[in-house]
Amino acid sequence: MGDPVAADDSMIPDFGLLTSPKHAAVGKTSHVEASYQLIIDNLMDLSHVGYVHTSTIGNSAFGGKAQLKVQRTENGVNATRLVADIPQPPLYVKAGVLPEGKNIDRWSSMTYVAPAFIIIHTGGAEAGTGALEGQYDHGLNLWVMNAMTPETATTTNYFWASVRAHALGNFEADELFLNGVSEAFEEDRAVLEAEQQVINRRGDSWSLALKADAASIEARRVLERAIQEEEAVALQRSPAVAA
Ligand SMILES: [Fe+2]
Repeated sequence: MGDPVAADDSMIPDFGLLTSPKHAAVGKTSHVEASYQLIIDNLMDLSHVGYVHTSTIGNSAFGGKAQLKVQRTENGVNATRLVADIPQPPLYVKAGVLPEGKNIDRWSSMTYVAPAFIIIHTGGAEAGTGALEGQYDHGLNLWVMNAMTPETATTTNYFWASVRAHALGNFEADELFLNGVSEAFEEDRAVLEAEQQVINRRGDSWSLALKADAASIEARRVLERAIQEEEAVALQRSPAVAA
């Protein structure tokens, strides 16, 4: 899309985990009848995992008492969400990597790169063993790679993959994560498409943004600025067309 002259391949984010020999990736492309912006909002506010995904990657404890840090980066936003000492969600129990029956500390690091890429590094480790201080290696490490390609203003081709660092070459683990994350994304789709329908009727307004939306709002600010910059460049190149 857009003017090929304006393309800068140094801006392509690193999705090398998808082909890394030390990782295993499974994924799909979903067609979502909602704007790519709503999918970005959704991925940057993972408090929803505690309400929407309780049969797979979440539980009610995950939605509540989180510590959220939000930082701007050169071309996006990085947000870290930590939740201490909570039960393992169903998909983590099925993965069987963490000590059975033990509570865990969970981390999620969401890296948004404008305009429409998000890499999430998430996981958990036995509570009190250093995950809250950034020691992740001994835990269950998962990544979700997301590329949201707008099809129209209100529909998106959503490319996603789930990446893990354990059980490489294990077909059952491939199935577990493909099915688990697919199930979660189908739940997201229901919420996103309902949001889009409400927005179509009433307009998009952030006047009711909550504290948990901090990272989503920051990502929207970066996106808005990127769109303005691109429009300014387009205007300089061909004033007649852009006007
Ligand atoms: Fe979700």
